Amino acid sequence: MQIQENISLRNFNTFGIDARAKYFASFESLEELEEIVDSDLFKHEKNSLILGGGSNMLFTKNYDGIVLKNALKGISCISEDENSYIVSAAAGEVWHKFVLHCIAHQYAGIENLSLIPGNVGASPIQNIGAYGVEIKDVFYSLEAYHKKDKKVVELKKEACAFGYRDSIFKHQFKEDYIILKVNYRLQKQPVFHTQYGNIEAELQRMGVTELSIQNISQAVIQIRQSKLPDPAVIGNAGSFFKNPIITPVQWEALKQQFPHLISFPFQDAVKLSAAWLIESCGWKGYREGDAGCHEKQALVLVNYGRAHGREIFALSQKIIDSVYQKFHVELEREVNIY
Ligand code: EPU
Repeated sequence: MQIQENISLRNFNTFGIDARAKYFASFESLEELEEIVDSDLFKHEKNSLILGGGSNMLFTKNYDGIVLKNALKGISCISEDENSYIVSAAAGEVWHKFVLHCIAHQYAGIENLSLIPGNVGASPIQNIGAYGVEIKDVFYSLEAYHKKDKKVVELKKEACAFGYRDSIFKHQFKEDYIILKVNYRLQKQPVFHTQYGNIEAELQRMGVTELSIQNISQAVIQIRQSKLPDPAVIGNAGSFFKNPIITPVQWEALKQQFPHLISFPFQDAVKLSAAWLIESCGWKGYREGDAGCHEKQALVLVNYGRAHGREIFALSQKIIDSVYQKFHVELEREVNIY
């Protein structure tokens, strides 16, 4: 275990922001993590931040503390019954690599979540979701290290309080736990989710006559690649904002004023397409220096090269303000700001 000083985080966040960490260490095992947590340096530093794939964060300044890179690896099927498998993945595994592993082994349930950037450890934190499936649908349990108690605990689904892009790890448990491992319940008999967006059209275009988790994954990959920027080419963190949720009464009024409003029923409320709201305010394809709003998906803010995190943040604030002015709807950032 080695704690390094004054390290650039540019290669550790998908926005490609060149912020620096005062200290940086990576852990490949629980023992290495414990060594770091027991070090004098860790005890004296007020701030610590766990880094997975760095795909849901925006650094607006240097990090004044210790950044810990979760490099825990390993995927295995730990049990099975008649209908399902419990598949365990270490938090430092790349999410898409895990999806491909499951597809190759015919573990069904996360094929719609193909190509989501980031690592396994982040999947329960923001309850990642796409194309009609969310992690909470397949989540079984997780193991996490409690920093203060220095103990490993197991948390079941009920303890995680999953919501839309939300969980207890974004609130009460934010500072306390380091996720080590996530266990998912995946099915032997797939249940296909093809109703969302363009999946059916894409499957047709591919000439698919018999559904499989392989071809659903392939369709999702193709749809994502056609409209979402590849972080390896253009820095971004996926959706920058959440889709706002409003009451049916608010929705009625808005729909009268803006008949083209795009929205979806969501529990007892209505979810608005944030991308549509942003596009309607004229931001899609907008660029200011190296900070921009993506030309194919208005929900995604991008770094065309050397944008500072503060510039991307400032652009996000202008977008929030203009959407509020036009629609009286408050956009909320999905990305974590540091
Ligand atoms: N739309 C626009 N303008 C745009 C983009 C989209 O009007 O620039 C419209 C589309 O025509 C469509 C609606 O908005 O009717 C929804 O678009 P899309 O299916 O692309 O999904 P989204 O609501 O914009 C959410 C997730 C994405 C996820 C997709 C697909 C959030 C915050 N985002 O986006 O997740 O991939 O659905 O399921 O919920 C992420 O979290 O990083 C992410 C990319």
